[in-house]
Amino acid sequence: MSKVLVTGGAGYIGSTAVAMLLDAGFDVSVLDDLSTGHRESVDSRASFTEGSILNPGDIEQAIAGCQYVVHFAGKSLVGESVEKPDLYMQVNVEGTQVLLHVMHKLGVEKIVFSSSAATYGEPIEVPVTEECATIPTNPYGLSKLKVENLLTEAALSGLAAISLRYFNVAGALQGRTGWLAERHNPETHLIPNVLTATESKPLKIFGTDWPTADHTCVRDYVHVVDLIDAHIKALQILKHGEHQVINLGSGGGYSVKNVIGAAAGVLGRQIPSVDVARRAGDPAVLVASIARAKHILNWTPTRDLGAMVSDSHNALH
Ligand code: UFG
Repeated sequence: MSKVLVTGGAGYIGSTAVAMLLDAGFDVSVLDDLSTGHRESVDSRASFTEGSILNPGDIEQAIAGCQYVVHFAGKSLVGESVEKPDLYMQVNVEGTQVLLHVMHKLGVEKIVFSSSAATYGEPIEVPVTEECATIPTNPYGLSKLKVENLLTEAALSGLAAISLRYFNVAGALQGRTGWLAERHNPETHLIPNVLTATESKPLKIFGTDWPTADHTCVRDYVHVVDLIDAHIKALQILKHGEHQVINLGSGGGYSVKNVIGAAAGVLGRQIPSVDVARRAGDPAVLVASIARAKHILNWTPTRDLGAMVSDSHNALH
């Protein structure tokens, strides 16, 4: 049976991947330092190593018997990355360097990497294709781009790599023992914040003066289950000596007000909100071209915004 090391497998997206890889017939080993992940989110069929990608010994322990790595471990908050750029370079970039070194040493040659639309920065054209310029506007995006460059370099000596650039991930999977919820602290993402807004703690709408149809920001939301389906497809088309970069989104855009409307529909009540100033660093519109994912991975997302909001709601309650 094929065995996969999932780094960051106790996080929101990683734990969803662990459960879906197991259901797809893979053996799974998880490496997570539990700095932001949750041990109880890891499917009990997986083996678990509590440790860091910065520690070669921890990686060697977790990677034993694996042919593949799906690499989610890393820091993932844009705002925090601006305050602590060195931390992002250390964990995301140096951590991946250590991981690649151990993989090379032990002859593990296949990796799928969790990259981000943040590599593009302020997009020059929409929809954003993989050919668009990558000019990150924060250390988080820069760290993801640097990791992609490491993978390009490693592919020159035979590594098989795919970087998947996520747009806005939402929704949740119902695992064997419960929903694998997005549980960040602090929570910065729109959909969980919409779903937990109350009269005393209303949702802050960051900017109502954007050059969009309803004057709020537009993003491309993709359901985490569709997202992981794409990872499983990616594992099957890895090619030695190649590093491919592929966007994962839905190919469509929803405004903040569209999301609020969808949530009001799911919850059957209004969402308390206040209009506040724009958040620093937010682009107005970010929508993926997913032509490459459709073509190379033979993948099309099937879960719409209603399903994302409804599954996120179930996972949070
Ligand atoms: N928003 C609000 N109120 C909130 C939270 C968000 O109005 O409480 C707005 C934001 O201004 C933005 C949209 O909702 O317009 C989506 O914001 P998120 O924070 O949910 O997501 P981002 O688009 O900022 O970030 C996502 C990923 C990042 C990634 C980035 C790439 O979560 O990891 O896309 O640009 F870096």
